[in-house]
This record gives sequence, structure tokens and C-alpha cells, in this order.
Amino acid sequence: MARQVSPLHGTHNRMRTLTALALAAAATATPSYASPAATGTAPHRAPTMSYALQGQGGARGGGQGAPQSTPEQRAARRDSIAAVRAATVQDVMAQIAGKENQPASDVFRNVQVWKAIPAGEFVKNMDEVVGRGLGRGCNDCHVANDWASDTLPRKQTARTMMGIVSDINTTLLPRLGPGPGGRPRAIQCITCHRGGMASRNAIIP
Ligand code: HEC
Ligand code: HEC
Repeated sequence: MARQVSPLHGTHNRMRTLTALALAAAATATPSYASPAATGTAPHRAPTMSYALQGQGGARGGGQGAPQSTPEQRAARRDSIAAVRAATVQDVMAQIAGKENQPASDVFRNVQVWKAIPAGEFVKNMDEVVGRGLGRGCNDCHVANDWASDTLPRKQTARTMMGIVSDINTTLLPRLGPGPGGRPRAIQCITCHRGGMASRNAIIP
């Protein structure tokens, strides 16, 4: 219990607004389980958007470098992935209707880290904290139609990262004392991953 920290904190309302905007844009979006990324068998090397976003810094080892893209092209990709994520969130929220306030571990089958977070907030965090933080779509980590599956290595890495972030927020950052305005200090996926924009000069792939 004590280790569960809501990952949203002060950015909550702003993220809600962003989601509302994305929902509006998502009216005609294809569900993300139909995305080509869902068929990839080697997720860490699949040409998913975050690699394509990382135009700066030259080719990745192994010759997988994506062509340079303009900031406008990167923003457009980010928006279209966000729209598909938002549509998927609506689907999942409909499936758990009435159970939004129950702990995620009671509602879903394979939740090991964010267990105490209410199921509705858990799903929104998948979108706003994890997906947006990494600039990725749901199916970069999840196989189609089986959210509980741990088949994709990226999902396993993400779970480890969720534990790392939780440890930093609950154990390490409190050593600094309260943050500005007395708020708890907290980092999130986006702190390091920059919405998929972390340059290759950083150590994040
Ligand atoms: C970067 C990887 C990643 C992305 C992107 C991602 N997820 Fe997840 N998802 C996870 C991990 C890791 C877990 C397990 C969390 C835990 O163990 O606490 C999870 C668990 C879930 C579960 C619970 C499944 C179960 O039955 O146990 C659902 C539902 C889910 N995600 C939906 C989504 C949706 C919807 C999106 C897109 C908006 C999404 N996820 C994007 C990594 C990801
Ligand atoms: C303190 C910085 C930091 C934070 C915060 C952070 N990460 Fe990471 N992440 C890294 C680094 C560094 C790597 C590269 C690790 C390696 O392979 O050596 C990485 C790699 C990953 C990878 C594998 C590469 C990829 O894109 O497939 C995933 C998935 C991932 N992180 C998910 C997350 C998620 C989800 C969160 C939030 C819960 C998160 N990370 C928060 C630093 C961070």
C-alpha cells in the first residue's frame, strides 16, 4: 500500500485536458490492436514510432537508423499515436465500466506493480503516463486482445521501470524533503523518456 504512489500528481488536470483533446481527435481512429506494430515479433527492434522520432544523433547501432524527420512530422506522428491510444482507452474503460474504483489488481489479471491504483486511473495512466511518456502506442507493449500477456519484452522492461520509478518516488526523492509548495517530489516516465524524444546522445534507446 505505502509503496503505491499516484503517478499523476500535479500534472493531473493538464493531462486530463490533453486526453480530452486526443479523444476528440480519435473519433475515426482504428483500434490500436489493428496497428501493424501488433504483428511485430521483435519489439525492441521493431520500427515503431519512438525510433522513427529519434531523428537526431545519427544511425543506431546495427544500421537501424530512421531517416531524419521534421519537428512537424514528429508532432503529427505523436498526435496520431495519441489518438489511437485514446480510442483504445475508451474501449477498455467500457469493458471495466462499474469497476473503475476497485484496485487494478482486483479488476485485471496480471498487475504486479500498480496494484492499489483504482482500475480506471490505472488505464488512464497507461495512456497518459506510460504511452505519452514514451511516445508509444498500447501495442508496442501489449499483444492484441490479451492485455494480461507478458509476451513482449518491452512490457517486461516497462514493468521493471515502473518499479524503479516507484522506488525513486517513495524512497529516494523524499530525502530531499517536500517539493515546491510542499508537494511531494516525483519523477515520471516522461522525465527521462521525453515522450519518445530523448536523443540518442542520452542512454535511453
Ligand atoms: C511501455 C509499455 C506499455 C504501454 C505503451 C502500455 N502498457 Fe499497459 N501495461 C504495461 C505493463 C508493464 C503492465 C503491467 C503493470 C503492472 O504489473 O503493474 C500493463 C498492464 C496493462 C493492463 C492490465 C492487463 C491485465 O489483465 O493484467 C491493461 C488493461 C493495460 N495495460 C492497458 C493498456 C492500454 C489501454 C495502453 C495504451 C493506452 C497500454 N496499456 C500501454 C505496459 C505498457
Ligand atoms: C530515471 C530515468 C528513467 C525513468 C524515470 C524511466 N526510464 Fe525507462 N529507461 C531509462 C533508461 C536509461 C533506459 C535504457 C536502459 C538500458 O537498456 O540500458 C530505459 C529503457 C526503457 C525501456 C526499454 C526501451 C524501450 O523503449 O523499449 C522501456 C520500455 C522503458 N524504459 C519504460 C519506462 C516506463 C514505462 C517508465 C515510467 C514508469 C520509465 N521507463 C521511466 C530511464 C528511465
